[in-house]
Amino acid sequence: MKRIGMLTSGGDCQALNAAMRGVVKCLSCSGEDVEIYGFLDGYKGLIYGDFRMLTGHDFAGILTKGGTILGSSRTPFKLMREPDENGLDKVEAMKQNYYKLKLDCLVILGGNGTHKSANMLREEGLNVITLPKTIDNDLWGTDMTFGFQSAVNIATDCIDCIHTTASSHGRIFIVEVMGHKVGWLTLNAGMAGGADIILIPEIPYDIDKVIMAINEREARGSRFTIMAVAEGAISKEDAKLSKKEYKEKMKNYAYPSVSYEIADKIQKKSGKEVRVTVPGHTQRGGSPCPYDRVFATRLGAEAGKLILKGEYGFMVGYKNREVVRVPLEEVAGKLKMVSPDATIVKEAKMVGISFGD
Ligand code: F6P
Repeated sequence: MKRIGMLTSGGDCQALNAAMRGVVKCLSCSGEDVEIYGFLDGYKGLIYGDFRMLTGHDFAGILTKGGTILGSSRTPFKLMREPDENGLDKVEAMKQNYYKLKLDCLVILGGNGTHKSANMLREEGLNVITLPKTIDNDLWGTDMTFGFQSAVNIATDCIDCIHTTASSHGRIFIVEVMGHKVGWLTLNAGMAGGADIILIPEIPYDIDKVIMAINEREARGSRFTIMAVAEGAISKEDAKLSKKEYKEKMKNYAYPSVSYEIADKIQKKSGKEVRVTVPGHTQRGGSPCPYDRVFATRLGAEAGKLILKGEYGFMVGYKNREVVRVPLEEVAGKLKMVSPDATIVKEAKMVGISFGD
């Protein structure tokens, strides 16, 4: 008999359900007796002992379902060691619930912050296996996270839609793409949607270079320009600020988000009108794309295999087209960013995409 605790933490994404289904199907197909304890709303459920016993039926028909059947929430890693408003020691509470339920292991699905906490629980002596979810694709130790390809599809659809209206009206459009502090999503959706300018956090932009790229397009006879801008895009001047100076600047930030600032700068410097579209959380929503369904199922199956073997302390990731296990301590606290020298960036530049650098 295996007793498994499961939780999904942080911002949701597509294919969380597909991944959990993969784990449970793998375990049940092995003939092993399993009890699944589903902790609700992320680490909160584990802290406060809020769980639901789940059976195979709960995982039937969820391969195509977006969101997470367990609910999710953010419990920042930096607050894990701080007592809650009633003085409860959260880490101790999680350990007690784990031991009270006599769990063999926890299966934790999450992104960066979630992995730091998962690694802390491992260091505290709990058996943990993690699965890499996030539309940002910014987790160290895996070439890909599930949710990413689905989000690329949605952001690309958005750019495609903007393309037709931009070409009718001869306008400059910015589509602001999620991705937190990294540019994977913007780079991929931008290239897939044929964006003319792509701005990502890893390559700070110079607004004059951005305007130059627009002017060059116009000189070549193009009536419109599409810009894919990452929500974390940053100017060359801002990139030079210290963390403290940047924080101070952001206190009096006058724009809803970075795209509006860029649009305003372009308008003021060039007199050109710019429209902004922000698909926002739609990028995390809806059904997982077929790629993510397959991918999450593969990772889930591997997690099930590790549980059956009693091998814990790993994230199940993906390297060089193979499903691999990566020690949690190697993953926790590291961000996977786009290298400005990456081949994909060079290739994008070779086909005329400007990064404003
Ligand atoms: O990490 C996933 C993500 O969607 C990021 O792309 C985005 O910056 C953030 O979460 C938004 O967080 P929230 O859902 O808390 O607004």
